[in-house]
Amino acid sequence: MTLSADEIRRAAALLELGRVVAFPTETVYGLGADAENPAAVAQIYAAKGRPSNHPLIVHLAPEADINHWVRDVPDAAKKLIAAFWPGPLTLILKKAPQVPDAATGGQDTIGLRCPSHPVAQALLRAFRQGRGGVAAPSANRFGHVSPTTAQHVKDEFGDDIGDGGRIGMVIDGGQSQVGIESTILDLSRWETHGPVLLRPGHIGADAIAAVIGVEPHLPDAAAPRASGTLDAHYAPRTPVALLPSDELEATVAMLTAAHKRLALLRHSPRTLPSNVVQISLPSTPKGYAHGLYAALRALDGERADLILVEAPPATAAWQGINDRLRRAAHDSAGILIALLADK
Ligand code: TXA
Ligand code: MG
Repeated sequence: MTLSADEIRRAAALLELGRVVAFPTETVYGLGADAENPAAVAQIYAAKGRPSNHPLIVHLAPEADINHWVRDVPDAAKKLIAAFWPGPLTLILKKAPQVPDAATGGQDTIGLRCPSHPVAQALLRAFRQGRGGVAAPSANRFGHVSPTTAQHVKDEFGDDIGDGGRIGMVIDGGQSQVGIESTILDLSRWETHGPVLLRPGHIGADAIAAVIGVEPHLPDAAAPRASGTLDAHYAPRTPVALLPSDELEATVAMLTAAHKRLALLRHSPRTLPSNVVQISLPSTPKGYAHGLYAALRALDGERADLILVEAPPATAAWQGINDRLRRAAHDSAGILIALLADK
């Protein structure tokens, strides 16, 4: 992957002009704009079709001054930043008063993350000499599967990219290493609620607990809103059903007998009919997450009646992946029964 310094400078200049730029991070691709320019941030919401009261994560260069953005940095945040930044951990903290509401969906908290991807870092360092923040949600239409390649971003936004479009440029930084979105930890209510895990990810609850000495809690009713925690999200257009490993063969046989078109995502070595479209992902959480969204996109392109997913183990190491699969399958509850009934 050759990326010229010129291309980074051009992208930073576009951001400074208030335009939207899609860029790679180690988790997924982001759709970025100047976090302190409300008109620029509005373009992100318009391009994504995302409700404007859903807050965005602000991405910072490694040398950035976090005190410009937040009003109070609890000790736990300092420890987590030292341990995991740059990397796939987003912290929700109390927002500093001068930060415009646009990027935070009007909330009094702000999500901050320092990505480890070298291209993301180069861009953040070039943008306003590293002193700015780039607000960026995942570069997909609202509710859809996040992109892990530049081509995925182009597939999502097509005509909206380029001089006449809302997205000025897509920077190609290769396939995102981690493959699922950052872990989100709310520390904004530390005194009353302690740490709250809003979205599981590659950095697990156990790793967080090891650094701060407290196991993060599950979200309570008053926890900050996060669209990534909506029941239905991260979803392909084809219905998705999650199935225990040992039910896979029988279900495939029944659906095939009912003349249904299947697309299958598996991770354990097993023999399934070779006429069924299938993708096999690695059986380790790391390898699986890396390939997950590209696989879901490819299977979605098969125009099948159903994407059947072999459920991964229900262990802590798979928590982030299981979370995304559950949300991808959410709108499809009952689909399996319906397909089998309708011969
Ligand atoms: O890995 C990632 O986090 C990627 C890359 C591009 O950095 N970004 C990403 O952004 O996944 P997005 O917008 O698709 O998901 C961010 C989630 C949303 O569910 C949003 O509601 C939540 O973070 N969030 C952001 N700021 C928040 C805040 N102040 N309070 C609560 N939730 C917040
Ligand atoms: Mg997203």
